[in-house]
Amino acid sequence: MFYHRRKGWEIDEREATPKALFLSRRAALATGLGAAAALAAPPAMAFWFGGDTPKPEPAAPDPTRDLYPARRNEAYRLDRPVTPQEINAHYNNFYEFGMTKDVSVPVQALRTRPWTLRVDGLVEAPREIGIDDLIRAGALEERLYRHRCVEAWSMAVPWTGFPLKRLVDMAKPLSSAKYVVFETFLDRSIAPGQAAPFYPWPYREGLTMAEAANDLAFLVTGAYGEPLARQHGAPLRLATPWKYGFKSIKSIRRISFASERPKTFWEGLQPAEYGFWANVNPAVPHPRWSQATEEVLGTGERRKTLLFNGYGEFVADLYAGLPNDRLYM
Ligand code: MTE
Repeated sequence: MFYHRRKGWEIDEREATPKALFLSRRAALATGLGAAAALAAPPAMAFWFGGDTPKPEPAAPDPTRDLYPARRNEAYRLDRPVTPQEINAHYNNFYEFGMTKDVSVPVQALRTRPWTLRVDGLVEAPREIGIDDLIRAGALEERLYRHRCVEAWSMAVPWTGFPLKRLVDMAKPLSSAKYVVFETFLDRSIAPGQAAPFYPWPYREGLTMAEAANDLAFLVTGAYGEPLARQHGAPLRLATPWKYGFKSIKSIRRISFASERPKTFWEGLQPAEYGFWANVNPAVPHPRWSQATEEVLGTGERRKTLLFNGYGEFVADLYAGLPNDRLYM
């Protein structure tokens, strides 16, 4: 599906390859590695040049299916209709599976069971938790959240999951822990995007301990009253709706507690454009486009973007005493 209606030859600045990335791709192609990849592309690399995608995994029943739909928590209200599931299912960012918006076919190669989450770093005892045990311990609820991408589009999504704070408490972090660091799986055999050398894989994100303890920070295991679809980051993703969508890391394999601020995926790639905080602010433009408004996908409507994506009452206090450390990039 194609929601940015524009003429065939036009390419939106937001979707154009960022200059630094373009240059690093050229650098990669200029090296023997790049040339070899283009001439004799192995299957994973072929994907980037329009080759085959991996074979989808046959669908297996989700062992936690019986938990959905979960009870809705009415504390989280929307100012707009929920985005239809058919639109959301074909308009995603999941670079591990390609740079196009519709990754619904290649993402089927992601095996979501067995799946363990490693919890480590500055904790009393590192541990591995089976995803089904975690989901069953989570006491799932449904929340309607706005979802604002840094590319200036938005959706409204009924996520199912549980507050991140519940996992933080289970992990028993040490008092020296100042940050929570999230990491996606790393497996080039199923995620052809991870063969691209110009990205700092695995996808990594982070929050301060105070942000992670905020009510809004939500670990997502489902959407639209069902277990999470792979393109949304099954079996476990983050939703931090006051921040740009790139903070909402998908398919989390590891959660660590750290004393140092982590270098996050997009920050590692393009520090001038994407920072650690990434709080939504219509008054602070991205270096290459305005953040004042957003395209509400599926409606044809453009709306004014709200500070903290409209969640200021929940989160503004988190940033009150902080110096202006690029809080909105
Ligand atoms: N997580 C991983 N692992 N890989 C990604 O490419 N993209 C991010 C975020 N989480 C991404 C990710 C971006 S840029 C956005 S806008 C959201 O996921 C998109 O979530 P959605 O596809 O469910 O709308």
